[in-house]
Amino acid sequence: MLVFAVETSCDETSVCIIGNNKKIYSHITYSQEEHKKFGGVVPELASRAHLQIIQKISKNALIEADIDIDDIDIFCSTCGPGLIGGLLVGSTFAKSLAIGSNKPFVPINHLEGHLLSTTFNNKVEFPYISFLLTGGHTQIYLIKSVNNYILLGETLDDAVGEAFDKVAKLLKMSYPGGPEIENKAKLGNKSAFKLPHPLHKNKNLNFSFSGIKTAINLIVCKQKNIDEKFISDIAASFQETISKIIESKILFTLDYLKKRKINISQISLVGGVAANQFIYEKAKKISHDHKCSIIMPPKYMLSDNSAMIGWACIQKYLINEFSNLYFKANPRLTIKDNL
Ligand code: KG4
Ligand code: ZN
Repeated sequence: MLVFAVETSCDETSVCIIGNNKKIYSHITYSQEEHKKFGGVVPELASRAHLQIIQKISKNALIEADIDIDDIDIFCSTCGPGLIGGLLVGSTFAKSLAIGSNKPFVPINHLEGHLLSTTFNNKVEFPYISFLLTGGHTQIYLIKSVNNYILLGETLDDAVGEAFDKVAKLLKMSYPGGPEIENKAKLGNKSAFKLPHPLHKNKNLNFSFSGIKTAINLIVCKQKNIDEKFISDIAASFQETISKIIESKILFTLDYLKKRKINISQISLVGGVAANQFIYEKAKKISHDHKCSIIMPPKYMLSDNSAMIGWACIQKYLINEFSNLYFKANPRLTIKDNL
């Protein structure tokens, strides 16, 4: 079975041809540069950029894979959540290819794409926990099986990646801020600034990041000399705080499940922020201390990509052969509206 997958929910235009044999025949992702000077994604620019490039990278993906479009069995695309302009470009494009080829079209939930990415390269043991750490979402799920996800907690304000990006902007770094903060933090003192640790009381499974961003804003406004040392110290203190929050949420989640007699042995980190090596190492240590292993998707499935969308499509289609050409892109799609 060959799947042609499209991802355009934010600022990555990505196309993948993937088989149910787990072979990735081609995977092309174009990361839009147009947003760099604005310090964040500009939705109108994003949809235009998707429109300009999608046909070209799709042709290139077919050439690279040496596959004729008639040999594709299923077309799929992200149908939400995300920026509506981008979702419309990608889903209309993939639906048109499906109609033209007289093949099924499978709508995919972007969050489910991230969640199922871990099953591509790991032998998962259901149920397991997944921390979804992206630029738009921060959620904890209990994954009971493909198609059965229980939301245990989520952010009440900013997403964790958004916090990285906003702090990076305050420090005049370019977008996306996560990788640069991680780099600067290597040279900084992680105890230089004491930052808030919100929702720590009552072992709460929800997150809140906006107060940390405000605290950093106040520190930056007061600072007269914004030199390299100051930037590295802020980056290190911020990253340490985020990592401490994730560590404590891991402990709270394990405690929550233990009280309900739900046994788990694996914790998965998915999404762009999971690419952060410092956070990964800390999460790994605390999980091992509690007899759980950390499982991760392949690196190329962490930040937004179409390979995870194609892989989610394969798993879901094999279960219920669901196809729906009339599914409307929904910028606020949640896991509860599962496809
Ligand atoms: O999963 P993703 O590519 O897109 C969404 O679905 O939102 O996540 C993007 C986010 C951005 O906020 C980016 O700054 C963050 O992931 N990110 C990182 C790192 N690499 C990407 N955050 C922290 N450390 C990193 N190394
Ligand atoms: Zn994403």
